[in-house]
Amino acid sequence: MRLDKFLGTYDLGTRKQIKEYLKNGRCTVNGVVVTKPDVHVDESKDEISFDGILLEYSKYHYYMLYKPAGVVSATTDGRNETVLDLLSEENVKGLSPAGRLDIDTEGLLLLTDDGGLIHRLLSPKKHVDKVYEVHLAHELSDNDISKLEAGVNIGDLRDDGSPDLTLPARIEVASPDEEGRPVVLLTIHEGRFHQVKRMMEAVGNEVLFLKRLSMGPLKLDESLSPGEYRKLTEEELKALNVSE
Ligand code: URA
Repeated sequence: MRLDKFLGTYDLGTRKQIKEYLKNGRCTVNGVVVTKPDVHVDESKDEISFDGILLEYSKYHYYMLYKPAGVVSATTDGRNETVLDLLSEENVKGLSPAGRLDIDTEGLLLLTDDGGLIHRLLSPKKHVDKVYEVHLAHELSDNDISKLEAGVNIGDLRDDGSPDLTLPARIEVASPDEEGRPVVLLTIHEGRFHQVKRMMEAVGNEVLFLKRLSMGPLKLDESLSPGEYRKLTEEELKALNVSE
């Protein structure tokens, strides 16, 4: 990797500033001052310091993306823009989204090359909470809410042919959106295909807008705009039980 690109992953400044810092001799590679931005370094082996502080090499990379609508949660796609295309400034090699959001769904998406974490978050056995903001065509009745919270038939079958109901969920009614459409916050503990849309269909409703607000301990940073991303903070990594 180019030295300026490596330094760029540490939020030290813009590419232009980093060039300037290098010119000023603030960076050493294996103890030797390096002033050229295009020098190649092996980030897993070389000891790279900035202002005398060793920049620890982290094996894995973790980004929070505010996925906008119109982008697919895949690493490649022949037709549509992918979530990886939105991380244009980063080295996206090996990164994958932790789970999928539909093309028209917005919100929190974790992108990482840490397969163990992806597995822990998505494993059906782990029942990681996911909270969605759901804008609906019709208000949910108390009866609909009870049914959705208890578990509904969304057409999935068990091996013996009986309906595989959704796991118990939680619904909190929120204020209507600007267009007066009903909004609920739905917490589910699994991640079946089109689950939220199919749950609402099961009670005769329709999802008009869907946004994921959280996944386990990770909450969408509302200072991000749709399409923006940032690295996870130390605190977020700790909450996810990631030790770097
Ligand atoms: N449920 C859905 O129906 N769609 C999503 O994108 C996520 C959950």
